[in-house]
Amino acid sequence: MEIIPIPALRDNYVWVLNDSASGETAAVDPSVDQAVLDAVAARGWRIGQVLNTHWHPDHVGGNAGIKAATGCTITAPAAEASRIAGVDCDVAEGDRITVCGMKAVVWEIPAHTAGHIAFYFEQAGMIFVGDTLFAMGCGRLFEGSAEQMFSNMRRLAALPEDVKVYCGHEYTLANARWALTVEPGNQALKQRLVEVEQARAENRVTLPTTIGLERETNPFMRAQDVAHFARLRAEKDSFG
Ligand SMILES: [Fe+2]
Repeated sequence: MEIIPIPALRDNYVWVLNDSASGETAAVDPSVDQAVLDAVAARGWRIGQVLNTHWHPDHVGGNAGIKAATGCTITAPAAEASRIAGVDCDVAEGDRITVCGMKAVVWEIPAHTAGHIAFYFEQAGMIFVGDTLFAMGCGRLFEGSAEQMFSNMRRLAALPEDVKVYCGHEYTLANARWALTVEPGNQALKQRLVEVEQARAENRVTLPTTIGLERETNPFMRAQDVAHFARLRAEKDSFG
């Protein structure tokens, strides 16, 4: 299994999965169509499946164009299917799907949007979280509550530490700088900031992250209770 990020728009990543054995290819949260089609074609692949985590245009903007070009199927959250172009398969909590020959289960993790989902590949040890969890950050609460997002953080934190987390945006450097203001004594965080600064100076992608790394360095995942989480989220919103 090969997984590549295709940078799109300002700081989005479209994650493309390819299984060399079956030749199947899937794209997660295509912001745009042409850049994704071009990057996939350059590798000799063809998209058969699109997965969407939530309705925001920077995650579904490429749906229609990719479907028109490839005839792919589109899997998206049932609760948001009416707001997303071209949905063939609407999914909800606990639904099981197959992507490039791998089994995935759908998690409902509302808060950033009311119907936001994640795709958890238990056997492969990876999860696509859209705009819910970021490296050292979490999504803004556009359509949900701090209680919901805190519960999402708890659920994600309970995954095995080596699970790879594929996020929707390259927010890592700004998040690391903010996180250090929250936990100035966190040695793992200091070390991570150095690594992330180096990576971004070289224009390298800082994702995927892992559950273990987030448990050590993500203030939102380390929040003690809902009130603590809500305070952090409000601080981060004003930090920028
Ligand atoms: Fe979003």
